[in-house]
Amino acid sequence: TRRVRTRDLIAAKERGERWPMLTSYDQYTASIFDQAGIPVLLVGDSAANNVFGYETTLPVTAEELLPLVRAVVRATRHTLVVGDLPFGSYEEGPTQALRTAVRFMKEGGCHAVKLEGGRRCAGQIAAITGAGIPVMAHIGFTPQSEHAIGGYRVQGRGDAAEDVIADARAVAEAGAFAVVLEMVPGEVAKRITAELPIPTVGIGAGPDTDAQVLVWQDMAGLRAGKAPRFVKRYADLAGTLADATRRFADEVRGGDFPAAEHTF
Ligand code: KIV
Ligand code: NA
Repeated sequence: TRRVRTRDLIAAKERGERWPMLTSYDQYTASIFDQAGIPVLLVGDSAANNVFGYETTLPVTAEELLPLVRAVVRATRHTLVVGDLPFGSYEEGPTQALRTAVRFMKEGGCHAVKLEGGRRCAGQIAAITGAGIPVMAHIGFTPQSEHAIGGYRVQGRGDAAEDVIADARAVAEAGAFAVVLEMVPGEVAKRITAELPIPTVGIGAGPDTDAQVLVWQDMAGLRAGKAPRFVKRYADLAGTLADATRRFADEVRGGDFPAAEHTF
């Protein structure tokens, strides 16, 4: 079967079908998610935290993300792969944004790009989509702006709902094929989802969006420690891997590994 296309996601919305999305940054997870039927994978700038160990998403560069994008594209056959434009690679305006998006498509081989910002990025979205590159927008809480926002805070509470709704309209009008709604009240996400012709992808946005996305290490419990309220852990990979590691170390120290069957 062929790769998922952006038009398939819009058709799914018209049929009222929800879909799951995950991040991926490497070939093994990409292949597992592809075969498990995840239609869209995001090589997120969250690689900053989840792969490279930075405190925030701000330091990660296109040079760091592009090899991960290539790995995920090579490892998948069905999934539509979205490359996340890092902080600093599109804010200067439509020309810079288009240049970076073209790089992601040519050097990364992904099928769409994503960037953060609503009304303020409408010009960038129009320029990129005008060049034939699909854009996923990202509004509500946008981690690249966390210093301006003042931390990880729900966006669009009370009167601020109108700002998030205006951002949603602006990105759809600018040509985005989908929009991530991060940490917005469920009622606001529901209103936006009902109004927009394009799919909404929620993360901390309640049950009424067209799609749901999580960082895969959060979904599978590889990241230890306290997770945000919107995360559900479907496995305990951190525990499984720590246990395997301790048994390997014990068997090496005890002389039980390698055994005869591992020896030439
Ligand atoms: O980088 C990322 O992981 C994201 C998703 C959580 C939407 O932008
Ligand atoms: Na991101």
